[in-house]
Amino acid sequence: MADQLIIFDTTLRDGEQSPGASMTRDEKLRIARQLERLKVDVIEAGFAASSNGDFECVQAIARAVKDSTICSLARANDRDIARAAEALKDAHRARIHTFIATSALHMEKKLRMTPEQVLEQARQSVRFARNLIGDIEFSPEDGYRSDPDFLCRVIEAVIAEGATTINVPDTVGYAVPELYGNFIKNLRERIPNSDKAVWSVHCHNDLGMAVANSLAGVKIGGARQVECTINGLGERAGNCSLEEVVMAVKTRKDYFGLDVNIDTQHIVAASRMVSQITGFIVQPNKAVVGANAFAHASGIHQDGVLKARDTYEIMRAEDVGWSANKIVLGKLSGRNAFKQRLQELGVELDSEAEINAAFARFKELADRKSEIYDEDILALVNDESLSGDKERFGFVSLSQRSETGEQPHAEIVFTCDGREVRSRAQGNGPVDASLKAIEAHVASGAEMVLYSVNAISGSTESQGEVTVRLQSAGRVVNGVGADPDIVVASAKAYLSALNKLQHKGERVPAQG
Ligand code: KIV
Ligand code: ZN
Repeated sequence: MADQLIIFDTTLRDGEQSPGASMTRDEKLRIARQLERLKVDVIEAGFAASSNGDFECVQAIARAVKDSTICSLARANDRDIARAAEALKDAHRARIHTFIATSALHMEKKLRMTPEQVLEQARQSVRFARNLIGDIEFSPEDGYRSDPDFLCRVIEAVIAEGATTINVPDTVGYAVPELYGNFIKNLRERIPNSDKAVWSVHCHNDLGMAVANSLAGVKIGGARQVECTINGLGERAGNCSLEEVVMAVKTRKDYFGLDVNIDTQHIVAASRMVSQITGFIVQPNKAVVGANAFAHASGIHQDGVLKARDTYEIMRAEDVGWSANKIVLGKLSGRNAFKQRLQELGVELDSEAEINAAFARFKELADRKSEIYDEDILALVNDESLSGDKERFGFVSLSQRSETGEQPHAEIVFTCDGREVRSRAQGNGPVDASLKAIEAHVASGAEMVLYSVNAISGSTESQGEVTVRLQSAGRVVNGVGADPDIVVASAKAYLSALNKLQHKGERVPAQG
């Protein structure tokens, strides 16, 4: 029988560390439910001790998800670990993931601790954690750049204290596949009690090798857990991408000889959900989930695929969920059909009031757009105006005028602290004029570091999905807005980003 490869998803923890990718509790819950549907083995739901908000997210996910193990990150100290255990109290299956840096550089410059102090702290933390929860993962941060002799001592000690998973992170994305695979192999061979734990890989993508390194850690090193994120979301160049690693192991089972639990048909929906919530667009040529991943443009390829699919296709688009991209609903669809499609898409709205609000938005959209795709529905439920929580700013209406040879101008009505505000401005295009009109009233002074428009479902009839990234006082946030009118979508995205700037939740950085 093939060995099992454990898929550990850290979209909600390491993925969220990506600047601008912070998510609300409801957004995290939606993603966690989708990860459960995907049959992810372990969901790292957050870093409970980093803020009250993170604690509540981990707790809510631990209560809502039944089929996956729920994990919280914790630095190697009693307070963090106790907080993680408290947040995980109601989970069906819980794991604490504790870590401390072990490279000479991190120990000396960041922790200002001696190797012996680090070894002792790692040992005591795992002992403390093990008394609270049976499933303990330990990570030596910057493990790949650590001295192997020292790493062997630390890992042997934490396994002796009861760590059940040992994760070897390539924190800065410095590894190359063969070296990383052999690094793990050597550790496993040298550490006498290495067979008492599951070995795990955690690779960052700074040199574009996170997936290759993870797979080498599995194939050469014998790791049986991969840590990854949907769409490879993560700080800097991101983490190892879940969809790529899973499809590599499935498609090349002849080589890897491993089984994964993942229900791959939910991959595309998960990718879209994460992209729409975070505003991190998936590049069209991205493997597995990019819009062109299964498109054959050249005549020779098209001819080949029509004659026999496997001439140019190594995976079936429908196996990763692309077949879901079809017209699902229209103007005449009723509330029940809408509600059922929401369920099929994995969207659970909390109250009847929210479903009614979403259905009203769906009807409005169906009046303007004859074909409603799954992407439209996902964008619609993503609209923050649906949630009961009152945000500071809300879109009401917009009129703008632009004509060749004349300077465009816009007039926007939006709510600010529950009061309707009307504001006007000129700009060098209708989008610019609309956002300047908002800024004329709000005066946030935030710097726009990204503006992008994407057609949700391909044609000009499609809704435009706009991402706006704002930077202010050292914080970066993404706002996303969707509408058939891209100027309106832009205004919604801008207001959404301003709302996120309002949520100032203090958070301790994981690697701080
Ligand atoms: O990259 C890293 O080292 C991490 C650890 C906290 C596991 O994310
Ligand atoms: Zn990481």
